[in-house]
Amino acid sequence: MGKTQPVKNKPFSQIIGTGVGIPQKVLTNFDLEKMVDTSDEWIKSRTGIETRYIAEEGQFTSDLGTTAALNALHDAHVSAKDVDVIIFATITPDVGFPATAVFVQKNIGAVNAAAFDIQAACTGFLYGLELADSLIAAKKAKTVLLIGGETISRITDYSDRNTCVLFGDGAGAVVLRAAEDDHGILGVYTRSDGRLNNLLKLDGLGTKYPPTPEHYDQKMHFLRMEGREVFKHAVTCMGDAAEAIMERASLSTEEVDLLIPHQANIRIIEATAKRVKVPPEKVFINVNKYGNTSAASIPIAIDEARRQGRLKTGSVAVLVAFGGGFTWGAAAIRF
Ligand code: ACO
Repeated sequence: MGKTQPVKNKPFSQIIGTGVGIPQKVLTNFDLEKMVDTSDEWIKSRTGIETRYIAEEGQFTSDLGTTAALNALHDAHVSAKDVDVIIFATITPDVGFPATAVFVQKNIGAVNAAAFDIQAACTGFLYGLELADSLIAAKKAKTVLLIGGETISRITDYSDRNTCVLFGDGAGAVVLRAAEDDHGILGVYTRSDGRLNNLLKLDGLGTKYPPTPEHYDQKMHFLRMEGREVFKHAVTCMGDAAEAIMERASLSTEEVDLLIPHQANIRIIEATAKRVKVPPEKVFINVNKYGNTSAASIPIAIDEARRQGRLKTGSVAVLVAFGGGFTWGAAAIRF
């Protein structure tokens, strides 16, 4: 959390497996040119995005999360029956309740787990990481399955060019267990500022604006965003968070092997890297391929970075995210 000082001699938990669940259907900038008044050139130059993946009809957040979870458990050589807690970070749950996590629990057969969702928009995975690390530190859980998954396409207004070009669907998962050596979560930093709740939001789908025909006509079931304001705050907060976690974990820029920022916009990513003086070759970028997948963005990036050989045993990564709320945060991990 913001004010606590989780400086540790030895990490409490470590990531022992990762996996993703990505839909097959690709939506390109050229497809979007046919839907709204936009261009491949505008989208690429303002955001860095070229393609994004979109869930098929009948494919939900829990389905993508289930695939990610199974892949992460397989990678970790852990049986679903050994999972104590499933945490699912999402702003696009399958239904109002129960939690998306319980559908994953059923699908993977994690019969001994407690399962619940958390909601911190694009920072959800980092909030979940803080919680998972704390549960393991407190010896309340031995094995935690943490998933970030979204079907943002379901809350996207494909007639609004300000938002529809930005988002994509997907899920990523990690398995965490108690650290046995000095490899693991070195620290997590999480913050929020509820005074800015109006700048990035989805008014409908809750109890305040029930799904009446009037609210439906007002498109309250779609995400809305003040793009320029969000951009400004994202740059400041992600820079602050990355600096804060590096200071807490006593990490110099040279000691960071990979900066993994939330993949929202290439310009936000570059500004964050510049602020913490991490050179471009040490910055992980896949926003061009996936767009902004909200809570799924960081776990997808971790999995890809591992598979590309950019996160080896001993590599130090700094993760940093920002999202609706506003929420933001960072984490330092020695893999
Ligand atoms: N295609 C063409 N033109 C567009 C499009 C589009 N898709 N979208 C907006 N425009 C237009 C605007 O209407 C505006 O036109 P006007 O000048 O005639 O009014 C013009 O382009 C410039 O608009 P800006 O908003 O100033 O463009 P900007 O350079 O700020 O880029 C963007 C917009 C990409 C949305 C940027 O503000 C941004 O990335 N914001 C942060 C978005 C984000 O990351 N959100 C999520 C973060 S948190 C989370 O992940 C949930």
